[in-house]
Amino acid sequence: MQTKLLRPTEDATALDYAGALLRDGEVVGIPTETVYGLAANALDPEAVARIFAAKGRPQDNPLIVHIAAIEDVNGIASEFPAEAQALAEAFWPGPLTIILPKQDRIPMVTSGGLNTVGIRFPSHPMAQAIIRAAGVPLAAPSANTSGRPSTTTAQHVMEDLDGKIAAVVDGGPCTVGVESTVVSLCGARPRLLRPGGISLEQLQSVLGTVEIDRALKEKIDDTETVSAPGMKYRHYAPKAPVTVVFGSPKESADYIYAQLGENSGVLCFDECAKRFSDRAIVETFGPSDDEAEQAREIFDALRRFDETTCTEIFAQCPPSSGIGLAVSNRIKKAAGFHVIDLTEGQA
Ligand code: TXA
Ligand code: MG
Repeated sequence: MQTKLLRPTEDATALDYAGALLRDGEVVGIPTETVYGLAANALDPEAVARIFAAKGRPQDNPLIVHIAAIEDVNGIASEFPAEAQALAEAFWPGPLTIILPKQDRIPMVTSGGLNTVGIRFPSHPMAQAIIRAAGVPLAAPSANTSGRPSTTTAQHVMEDLDGKIAAVVDGGPCTVGVESTVVSLCGARPRLLRPGGISLEQLQSVLGTVEIDRALKEKIDDTETVSAPGMKYRHYAPKAPVTVVFGSPKESADYIYAQLGENSGVLCFDECAKRFSDRAIVETFGPSDDEAEQAREIFDALRRFDETTCTEIFAQCPPSSGIGLAVSNRIKKAAGFHVIDLTEGQA
């Protein structure tokens, strides 16, 4: 299959064309504010099966259903409780996915066999225009080969999926850069399943107490049952094994410097790059004091290591407040939660 690269900024028919492909059951890479999505008609089991095939995604990992208006929840979830409405009003359109009980018209293949469904109303104008042009809700996981870092440019999507999908819509680089926050409202209390573009503090400001799923903090065995099935799979990982070194930028840089071998890679804050430049393969992901910039750069930096010859990677990592929680979660997941914590034992 020849994958078409569609450019709405140069071609006024591109978004309608993407919508027509989606209505026909095809899979299309689309820009969103978080990461690129691999979209298909969420109501069509055959179209959704093509997403799983293109990504090589395990069948039990549910997809997020994307909508273009808050009211569209009423055609997808079987309940729209007050807490969900409050979240939607506060953070939609935007980088938040809300898990609710699903209606029967959402096929089991879309929900990974669960009776619940994740719903998101993205803020990217092209994403909204494509959903409207398709005329159906769009199931879309991140548009990467399963296990690789998510994609934040159309070029990344082509790297992973050229020849496997009908088209990619180029909407430029994603402005958030990490995926949406996933919160479940299906249990006794709201539960954070994945940190993302909306911070835990922002969720708490609307919901009060929010439980934190343990998959955020530790590696989950492949055979275990978890609330967010996606959290148990190896994720975001470059080919070389990653070790996270957590501490102040100076402390972690000192520690990493002392570990460097022949073919080491270092994922570091911008201001630490010079320190390593003649001893290691260095990729930076933004200044240590700008977590929003780190979020925009992290996946691109992780991907760049795969074009190098490094055999091990040491990574710096921001603290877990604000969007730093999402950035540090992605880095720790890339490391399979292999973390050396230099702050342990410190007050
Ligand atoms: O920002 C995003 O969320 C991007 C863009 C394209 O919207 N999408 C995305 O999808 O990151 P994906 O499939 O890569 O990650 C979705 C996560 C997975 O960890 C999945 O297991 C979880 O959300 N999830 C989806 N539906 C769920 C459900 N019904 N119950 C529990 N977890 C669910
Ligand atoms: Mg993903």
